[in-house]
Amino acid sequence: MKLIKTKNYEEMSQKAANVVSSVVTLKPDCVLGLATGDTPVGMYRILAERNKKGDLDFKNIKTVNLDEYVGLSAEHPQSYQYFMNQNLYSKVNLSSNNTHIPDGLAKDPEQECKRYEELIYSLGGIELLVLGIGNNGHIAFNEPDDSFPKETHVVKLTEDTRRVNGRFFDSLDEVPYYAISMGMKSIMSARAIMLLASGEVKKKILYESIYGPITPMVPASVLQLHPNLLVITDQ
Ligand code: PGA
Repeated sequence: MKLIKTKNYEEMSQKAANVVSSVVTLKPDCVLGLATGDTPVGMYRILAERNKKGDLDFKNIKTVNLDEYVGLSAEHPQSYQYFMNQNLYSKVNLSSNNTHIPDGLAKDPEQECKRYEELIYSLGGIELLVLGIGNNGHIAFNEPDDSFPKETHVVKLTEDTRRVNGRFFDSLDEVPYYAISMGMKSIMSARAIMLLASGEVKKKILYESIYGPITPMVPASVLQLHPNLLVITDQ
């Protein structure tokens, strides 16, 4: 594991954007695994600026996102498809055929999980996967549990996660109960992983995840086993 400590959120975002930029430059047709949430917003902003200036080309890049709420359409402002449209897709020259997110409206979510897992495989696997971390140690929607779920799967959100994510919804009742999420096998199969964590609120769980025991009760702790893990955090 390599750990980079930065002064603040902006510097963390700059460093994260540098890593993504170098992968995009060296492998201009690779697959990036992408995350939603507050954490990567600054990184997306910087990537969009570089693309606009002509310094970074996403023309042949493919992206696969970690997760999506079950029941929310791409037009719903809290769907992850909407988030990605707003923060990245509409701002860079990614081709719409090349961006992938689980379909939250799929009639058969279990089947959608299979399709998504096969899609990642058929694209050739993820070159660099960007991750945030939840306050409870979740990565994507892999919540603390007795075992590590393996592949893309339907997950019941914990009340803690629903409450934390509820800050974006008008009321807690509107927060979906289920999501489709990449599993640990899908995540750990990425050739490189970059975990981002910002702020005091993430300090304890980040420490436990990277230095504590490896346990499904702290899902991010499994990342310690990844041969190519980069953690970028701020002071
Ligand atoms: P955040 O979410 O980036 O909004 O803190 C991270 C997560 O819950 O995985």
